[in-house]
Amino acid sequence: MHKSILLDTLSGKPTQCPPVWYMRQAGRVLPSYRAIKKDHTLWQMMNDPEIGARVTLLPVNDLGVDAAILFSDILMVPYAMGMGFEFTDNGPVFSQPLMCSDNPLAQLHPDPSKLNFIYDIVDKVKTEKPANIPLIGFCGAPLTVLCYMIQGLGRKADFPDAIRFLYEHKQVARKLIDAVAELSIEYIKGQINHGVDVFQLFETHAGLIPIDLYNELFMPAVKKMAAVVKENHVPLIYFPRGFGMGIRNISPEVCDFLSVDWQTPLDVAREIVQPSIGLQGNLDPRLLYANKAEIEKQLQSYISFGQKHQNWIFNLGHGFLPDTSFENARFITDWVKNADWGREI
Ligand code: CP3
Repeated sequence: MHKSILLDTLSGKPTQCPPVWYMRQAGRVLPSYRAIKKDHTLWQMMNDPEIGARVTLLPVNDLGVDAAILFSDILMVPYAMGMGFEFTDNGPVFSQPLMCSDNPLAQLHPDPSKLNFIYDIVDKVKTEKPANIPLIGFCGAPLTVLCYMIQGLGRKADFPDAIRFLYEHKQVARKLIDAVAELSIEYIKGQINHGVDVFQLFETHAGLIPIDLYNELFMPAVKKMAAVVKENHVPLIYFPRGFGMGIRNISPEVCDFLSVDWQTPLDVAREIVQPSIGLQGNLDPRLLYANKAEIEKQLQSYISFGQKHQNWIFNLGHGFLPDTSFENARFITDWVKNADWGREI
């Protein structure tokens, strides 16, 4: 791998400016993505190595980001456990959410080979990507994945039925968590064997339950998944959105870098997160609806942080929203690349 500023930052080397990439950069904002999507369903795009690899690399060319993230979805793990779903305009819809079943565990039939088609995309990206651009692999963390599996409604953001299920059927929930973690570990190993350079764990719905309950039920599984990434010497980023003060007790066993949500000021995160853990984030994706002067004012406020802290990756505090302006996305990337971060290296 030629010099990559993302890998340099992840391994503690100083760089002139922070590396930049965005959660949900591969879909949504890019006109080139929307053009491909006109003629294909999401499943077609994620199934075809040629299209999947092309979409993975679009943001590298169109936005000028420092990394590519695999074009796939966290719901591939439920799919490989035998759950049927479709991506609709209202979000993913499962044919039989687990809460509708008398015996949810019996409904699951994990089959790691159902994930093989995704490794074909990884292989293709690896041969086609520029040498200085690392490929980020990912999967969902267990709470987020289970929210969808149990309740099955993508756009109902607070998953009331899934959380009720966790309280009502805690013992079943523990078994489901283990089952999701077990298959996710196979998936992590598969992605790493096929050459992903960095791994991100998306716990988008961490904020839906109390920190203590998260730590009791989910953190052991997260640690098991993290251990596999670490054993393979791949840098690991963890995104527990809405975890609040929970980030204080995250240990280096869990991740190398913590992706900070837009609710949490970056300097507060820096004060409370263990110093050996780097940070990523945390621009509010909705800021991109504002005008350039407003956006620039916010960006400017990152300079003193970036000057002081080299162990930081510029990113959003959650993924791009579907109707975000491409021009503004390009504007922030150029701004981060061209700003004077006042770093001496
Ligand atoms: O970052 C990237 O662009 C790479 C690919 C990626 C997708 N999904 C593709 C996708 C990644 C990293 C994800 C992660 C994901 N998927 C998460 C965690 C991150 C987050 O943003 O919170 C979650 C919760 C999902 C589940 C999911 N997939 C939902 C709720 C939806 C429907 C609504 C939506 O978010 O658009 C999807 C569909 C999906 N996954 C799309 C894409 C590009 C469709 C967007 C489109 O219509 O083009």
